[in-house]
Amino acid sequence: MWCILSEFCEKKMTVDYDQLAEQYRNYRKPDPKIAARIQFHIQGAQRVLNVGAGMGSYEPEGCEVIAIEPSYEMISKRKGIKAKLIQGFAENLPFRDNEFDVSMGILTIHHWSDIAMGLQEMLRVSKNKIILFTWIGYGSDFWLEKYIPEIKGVDEKLFPTLEELDRLLGAISVETVEIPHDCTDGFMCAYWRRPEAYLNPNVRKAISTFSRISDFQKGFDRLNDDINSGMWHKKLSHLLEKESLDLGYRLVVWEG
Ligand SMILES: C[S@@+](CC[C@H](N)C(=O)[O-])C[C@H]1O[C@@H](n2cnc3c(N)ncnc32)[C@H](O)[C@@H]1O
Repeated sequence: MWCILSEFCEKKMTVDYDQLAEQYRNYRKPDPKIAARIQFHIQGAQRVLNVGAGMGSYEPEGCEVIAIEPSYEMISKRKGIKAKLIQGFAENLPFRDNEFDVSMGILTIHHWSDIAMGLQEMLRVSKNKIILFTWIGYGSDFWLEKYIPEIKGVDEKLFPTLEELDRLLGAISVETVEIPHDCTDGFMCAYWRRPEAYLNPNVRKAISTFSRISDFQKGFDRLNDDINSGMWHKKLSHLLEKESLDLGYRLVVWEG
């Protein structure tokens, strides 16, 4: 394994991804449909940087990939290690200007302690493109908010708006990414058609928002009751016919 580690990193993370890593490995598998959307923008690149790389989901094949990630446990629990791994932060990328054809940041920017500085760094090291997979608000279909109202406030405070991203990056294009009903990447909205999944504490340990909320048990008890009584399926039957849903996930692409 080609890997550079730094003791300093452990002390600066806003969410303790060392604690989340075990279940992240079990429940956060790259989803093929989302992967295809990301790969479309990476094709042709020879040198790619993955910032906030976690365990390497959505990294492209057939080119050189450098992955930067602060959490030691996330780095060490990677399965296939094709990328060169560096322990570090978006806000201080240890690379020369324009070193990469493309840099990518998948569901990571909302965790950075300084989003403006991290994006400035991505602009500095990227020649052609920056690809971000991010989120702009659930919209009206994400029913979990009715059971656990706190999730909305937590996530809305963390994620930048599209206006902010446009101001920080310059001209961006934005694509809606609908979430498939059988999404294999267990982020917050992945289980919108599989409500039972949210009752599994290990599923929740792979979703960082829950680590920022202290008291959600009553909400999950109500969800459990509604699933068992058939109320959930009755109230949300219109969702059961859908294959995918817009729940606020967006691909943001900057081209230099
Ligand atoms: C939700 S995970 C996403 C991981 C990976 N990109 C994926 O799609 O599976 C967010 C990642 O951002 C990392 N992270 C947190 N703060 C960071 C920072 N300041 N710079 C870079 N990465 C950071 C976390 O350690 C975590 O691995």
